[in-house]
Amino acid sequence: MSAHAAAVTPTGIASIGLHFPPLAMSVEELAQLRGEDPKKYTLGLGCKEMSLCPPDYGVVELATKAAQRAIRRWGGDRTRLGMLAVGTETAVDMSRPLSAWVADRLGLRGAVRSYEVKHACYGGTLAVKQATEWRMSGAAQGKAALVIAADVALYEQGDPGEPTQGAGAVAMVIDEPNVAAIDSMSYPWSEPEFDFWRPVGTSYPLVDGPLSLECYKRAAENCFKALVAKRNPEEALSELAAICFHVPFPKMVKKAVFRVGEFFGWSPEKIEELFRDKVNPTMVWNSLCGNAYTASLWISVANALKGLAIGQRVAAFSYGSGFGAELLTLEAGPMALAGAWEEDIEEDLASRQQVTAAEYETFRGT
Ligand code: CAA
Repeated sequence: MSAHAAAVTPTGIASIGLHFPPLAMSVEELAQLRGEDPKKYTLGLGCKEMSLCPPDYGVVELATKAAQRAIRRWGGDRTRLGMLAVGTETAVDMSRPLSAWVADRLGLRGAVRSYEVKHACYGGTLAVKQATEWRMSGAAQGKAALVIAADVALYEQGDPGEPTQGAGAVAMVIDEPNVAAIDSMSYPWSEPEFDFWRPVGTSYPLVDGPLSLECYKRAAENCFKALVAKRNPEEALSELAAICFHVPFPKMVKKAVFRVGEFFGWSPEKIEELFRDKVNPTMVWNSLCGNAYTASLWISVANALKGLAIGQRVAAFSYGSGFGAELLTLEAGPMALAGAWEEDIEEDLASRQQVTAAEYETFRGT
């Protein structure tokens, strides 16, 4: 990609649509069911509520609803959508991409490159990167891309990961950077590991919990090291209005922030301040949703962008088990201030029903 191509194809997020499913359960309710101290889930993991899907509601419904909201808000001519990329780890078929189910529901067909991206929770970010690079390269010939990150995160009942469960979707039209420009330069880090994986044919992930925490922290350290490079870390991070992370559970993010801060040689007080001011506020919606795998980071980014003035900057750290990570930087555009996509969350939270432990057990099939 040449600097010239980037200059003539302004690219970024043109609109955002979000969706949480119709059910939720508090982690205190789950703690009671599992005979755990609720404080382990609320204080130990930092969790609050888990979004849940009823039996007839899944990743296709989540992705489609978020996409409809993003397309409506974009307001563009649908024939300008030349790419549909869906990042997910909730595959519904080993061959047919999730994008085909979504395209069917949306009535999108024709000259559209439609596909699914898999790399655990990193898949949505890869789809965003592919869409931006496609536009910036000139190959898009001015067309826009619809990118969706959607997942239903469920663990086996009684698994230590169960309180971190969730579900949700974020859709973004990648076109003119009216909501945010996405910088073409980003900072990837990957290492092959078995920290969290789901063998073909199995319903639930297998997790090496302690290893997964360590991999996430190592990835964060290396990505932020690359972002800061030879600059003063304090000065480099002070340019950011918010720092967003993939949120498997909020305490994981705090641990990663401490790892990064310690790498920079900061005092615990200084790291705590960074977490309090620039990171924790971005996780408000995540804590009401739980882990939504590919969507988690983008739920946090959507939260951080709303209310920003033009030119304010945000960092976004994506992590996917296996593992691959990438740190992106974005710059708020003119439509960030109004943050219109907040109404999606307000609407979904107002209409969703809280389920009891007994109802949860029934639809999980005990
Ligand atoms: N009151 C307060 N805190 C308590 C407590 C109590 N009564 N009991 C325990 N705690 C604290 C513990 O001290 C611990 O805190 P620290 O880590 O700060 O010491 C915390 O609660 C968790 O306790 P455990 O370590 O005993 O928890 P666990 O082993 O039962 O499960 C887990 C933790 C391994 C992370 C589990 O939730 C899990 O498997 N999660 C899924 C994997 C995951 O999310 N990994 C994150 C990185 S991988 C990734 O990011 C991809 C992805 O999305 C999955």
